[in-house]
Order: sequence, then structure tokens, then C-alpha cells
Amino acid sequence: MGETKLLVKDVQLSFKGLKTLNSVSLEVKPKTLHAIIGPNGAGKSSLLNCISSFYKPQRGEIWYNNQNLLEVPPHQIVRLGISRTFQNIELFGKMTVFDNLMLGRHKFMQTGVMMSGVYWGQAKRQEKHHQEKLKDIISMLNMENVINQTVGNLPYGLQKRVELGRALAAEPSLLLLDEPVAGMSGKEKEDIVNYILKVKEQLGLTIVLIEHDMKIVMEISDFITVLSFGEKIAEGIPVEIQNDSKVIEAYLGTPNIDRLA
Ligand SMILES: Nc1ncnc2c1ncn2[C@@H]1O[C@H](COP(=O)(O)OP(=O)(O)OP(=O)(O)O)[C@@H](O)[C@H]1O
Ligand SMILES: [Mg+2]
Repeated sequence: MGETKLLVKDVQLSFKGLKTLNSVSLEVKPKTLHAIIGPNGAGKSSLLNCISSFYKPQRGEIWYNNQNLLEVPPHQIVRLGISRTFQNIELFGKMTVFDNLMLGRHKFMQTGVMMSGVYWGQAKRQEKHHQEKLKDIISMLNMENVINQTVGNLPYGLQKRVELGRALAAEPSLLLLDEPVAGMSGKEKEDIVNYILKVKEQLGLTIVLIEHDMKIVMEISDFITVLSFGEKIAEGIPVEIQNDSKVIEAYLGTPNIDRLA
């Protein structure tokens, strides 16, 4: 498979006979930021759900580093180095920022309650190790001032940053982001985009990004795949996508058109 990190081949997904994804294929190169765009209902989140093994397509293949993801149960995807954030925030609102981040390290936790009783020292050492790892993420995302705050009380933009932090806590090589700046103000958007670019560089991540804000997509993407009605209608670098007549047509009559130009 050479350099390819993520390979989606001929994926077809239907719900009650209605095709959500129709023969979708794409290749995500290592350490690139690969955007998936398209009008509402195009199948973007569904595709991400297939990659994270949450949905099982009826046909096709999805490979990550020579591992067939369709054979991997959803809870084990994170062990392969794949982490994600959700279109709607999925955090534990009543817990602190720190505890939410710690949940992201779940895959590394070996000692259960019984074990920690028996091997107290080992459990303590592990806890320290996890805390050290989280410190790096907290510092990278400038969250030092909020780690003990309850997530539910934080402004929306910060909650999205916590979600990003939790995904990073699992030390992924591939990060799947579903609309990380949706619902944010201009300044909040700018902040989170800068954090995304920073962690991509510093951690050498491959990122698959679903985003509606075309200005952001065109600015930060290395490559773009466009979906419309469950089909891939175009792919290429930003300047190619901006001038693609099929893409412009797909966006006609949608609120996104003024942001595509
Ligand atoms: N679990 C499900 N059950 C039934 N239909 C589903 C399910 N998940 C997705 N769909 C359908 O698949 C289609 C694509 O939805 P999807 O959420 O993937 O679109 P999207 O491109 O992410 O849209 P948006 O930009 O609005 O988030 C929709 O028609 C949706 O109703
Ligand atoms: Mg979606």
C-alpha cells in the first residue's frame, strides 16, 4: 500500500434501502489535512462513522495501515491510532476538563480496581505517567486555567477545544474532526483552527476534517474530497475544487455558495 495511511474503497452504505454513500473511494496521505465537504445530508458524517467503525457499510473496504477497519469493533479503533471528535459535542458535562481529558487515555489504562489495590505502586506510577502526558496536551491547547472547571459551564468554543484535547489524549496518528468550528464566532473559529494546525504540525498527525466554512477549508486543506447526495463528485487541491463546475453546482441554492468563491 506504500505511503497511504487511510484508504476508503468503493464504500456503500444504506439505511432502509436509501443509499447514504454510493461507491465512495478516497485516499488520505500521511500527515496531510484532508477535508471532506459537501452540502447538508451529503453523507460526510456517515463516511466518518464508517471510518471509525461506528457504521458498517454494506459494501466496500476501509484500510488504515494495512488493517481492515471493517473487521475492527468500534471500541478498538482508538487502539489503531484513530481518534475523533463529533459534530455535536460529546463530553461529560458534569465532570471537570481534566477528567474528560483523562477519559481520552482510557485505551492505555491497564489496571482495573482490583489491580490497583494489589499493585498500588504500579498504579500510582501509571497515574503519574498519564498526568504528564495530559500536561503536554493542556499546554499545547492553552487550557491550564480551566482544567479544574466543570465542562458544562465552559463557553462553547472552549468545550470544542476540550473535545479536541480528549481526542489527542489517546495519542492518535489519525484524527477525524466532524465540524470542529461549527456554531462558533469568528474569533473562536480562528482560535480552534490555529490549534488544529498547531497540533497537526507538532504531533505529525494526519487529519480528516469535515467543515462547512469554505474560507477555512480552502485555507488549511492539503486536499479536498467533495460529496453530494452520497457520491464523490470531485477531489483535488483547494484551487481545483474552488473552480470545479460540479462543486459549484452542488452548492447552488445552499447557504454555502457565497463562501465557496
Ligand atoms: N443512523 C442513521 N439512520 C438513518 N439514516 C441515516 C443515519 N445516519 C445518517 N443517515 C442519513 O444519511 C444521510 C446523510 O447524513 P449525514 O449525517 O452523513 O450527512 P452530512 O453530510 O454529515 O450532513 P450535515 O452537513 O448536515 O452534517 C441523511 O439523509 C441522513 O438522514
Ligand atoms: Mg454531518
